[in-house]
Amino acid sequence: MHWRSLLSVVLVTPFSHALIRFPCSQLVTERFDPLVTPGIVSPHLHQIIGANAFNLSIPSAYDPATASCTTCRFKEDKSNYWTAVLYFKHPNGTFMRVPQMANQYVGSPNGGMTVYYIQPPNGAKVTSFPRGFRMISGDPFIRNNTWIPPNTAVSRALTFRCFSDNFGNNNGSPGAGTDTVNLPKQKCTGGIRSNIYFPSCWDGVTLDPPDHHSHVAYPEGPLPSDGSLFFNANPCPSSHPVRLPMIFMETVWDTRQFNMWPTDGSQPFVYSMGDPTGYGQHADYVFGWEGDSLQRAMDTCTDISGVPDSCKALTVQTDAQINSCKQAVQVNEVTEGQYLPRLPGCNPVQPGPARATMFSTCDAVSTTGGVPSSTATAAPPPTTSMPSSAQAAHYAQCGGKNYNGPTSCQAPYTCKYSNDYYSQCL
Ligand SMILES: *[C@@H]1O[C@H](CO)[C@@H](O)[C@H](O)[C@H]1NC(C)=O
Ligand SMILES: *[C@@H]1O[C@H](CO)[C@@H](O)[C@H](O)[C@H]1NC(C)=O
Ligand SMILES: *[C@@H]1O[C@H](CO)[C@@H](O)[C@H](O)[C@H]1NC(C)=O
Repeated sequence: MHWRSLLSVVLVTPFSHALIRFPCSQLVTERFDPLVTPGIVSPHLHQIIGANAFNLSIPSAYDPATASCTTCRFKEDKSNYWTAVLYFKHPNGTFMRVPQMANQYVGSPNGGMTVYYIQPPNGAKVTSFPRGFRMISGDPFIRNNTWIPPNTAVSRALTFRCFSDNFGNNNGSPGAGTDTVNLPKQKCTGGIRSNIYFPSCWDGVTLDPPDHHSHVAYPEGPLPSDGSLFFNANPCPSSHPVRLPMIFMETVWDTRQFNMWPTDGSQPFVYSMGDPTGYGQHADYVFGWEGDSLQRAMDTCTDISGVPDSCKALTVQTDAQINSCKQAVQVNEVTEGQYLPRLPGCNPVQPGPARATMFSTCDAVSTTGGVPSSTATAAPPPTTSMPSSAQAAHYAQCGGKNYNGPTSCQAPYTCKYSNDYYSQCL
C-alpha cells in the first residue's frame, strides 16, 4: 500500500496538492543546539539530521558547500533539523533512550525523521527560504495547552500518533482525528510518531530573530474540516505575508520494547528536557539547500505523493549514502544504550502544568561551558561505551557499519540484519 492512501479519507479535496516527502537518517545525537545555545553544550539532548557541517554553532551565513554530505535523501538538502529525544522512565527511576525506527514507505534510513515540504493546496506561489533562514517550532518549557485557542493551526501543530502493531491505527492526515497534543496516555504497541508542523508564513525580512520564531506564523483562521494542517489553504496573516513551503516532520519512536508500565497506569515516556506531557515537544530548522534547488523543486515537483524519484529537479541518494553520513559525538557522556540514573544535562522531570524552569545546579559535562578540548575529538559515540561482553536487549541494535556495541542478543532473541548500517535483536 502506498503511504498516500493512508490519507485517503481526506482526499476529497478539490485542490491539486504537491509536496516532497523524504527520509533523513540520524547524523548524531548529542546535547547541541546551535540556534538556542550557540557555542555551549545544550541543557538537553537532541537527535540531529541533515548536513555534516552541523556544529556547536553554525555561522549565520552558513554556506552549504562547507558540508561534504547530508543524511537526507536529496543530495541538495544541506539543511539541519533537530528535535528533543524521547526516554523511557523505568519504574526504578532510571532512564533509557527510546530508539527510533524507519517510517513507512521511506526505504531503510537509520532512525532519523521523515521530512515533508508541502505546497499550499490551492496552488498558490511558494517562496523558498532565503539563505541564513532559521526557525523553531514549539517551546521546550510548555507543559499545558489550555492557553492555545482551539481549532487554530497552532493548536494542532505538534501532535502524536499512537500506533497499534505494524503501523496500525494510521488514520487521517497528521494531527487530525485521534492524534493527541499530549504524549499518548495508553500503550502504543506499534510505537509513537511525533508530528511537527513548522509555521509557513514569513515576514519577508527577518532571517532569524533572537526568539527564533516571531518572523514566522501559521496560516490564519480555523482548520479545515479534517482538523489537520496538512491541507490547510488558509491565507497568511498580513503581518507575515510570504508563503513558505510548509515543513512537516515525523519521528517514529520505537517504544515496542518498553512494556513495563507503572502500576498506576501513568505513561512512562519523558522528553529529554524533562517533559512527561509532550506539550513541550519542539523542533529546530537551519535552512541549507544548495543554490535555488528548493525553489526549483517547489516549482516543478508537483507529484501529489511526493515520492523522491518523481522529483527530477533534485538528486536522489541511496540508503547506503544517507546512512554513511555521520558525525562523531563531541560531548563526553553516555546518553543511550543503557539505563541512566538521570537525564543527560540533569533535567528533572517537570510535569507542569506550570511552565518548566531551568535547573541551575548541574555537574553534567560542559552544561554552561564549551566542549572541553580534551574530549572534543576523543569522545566515542555512546554505543561504544557499552561493554563488549554485554548482550543487546530485545529490539536493540546489534550490528551495522561503525557500530561497536554488543553483537549478540539476550535470549531468546537473535541478531537480524536490517540494512548495512543496522541489525536488530528480534
Ligand atoms: C566544529 O567546530 C570545531 C571548533 O570550531 C571544529 O574544530 C570542528 O572541525 C567543527 N566540526 C565540523 C564538522 O565542522
Ligand atoms: C533499573 O532497571 C533496569 C532494567 O531492569 C536495570 O538494568 C537497572 O540496573 C535498574 N537500575 C536500578 C538503579 O535499579
Ligand atoms: C499553562 O502554560 C502557560 C504557558 O507556559 C503558562 O503561562 C500557564 O501558567 C500554565 N498554566 C498553569 C495552570 O500553570
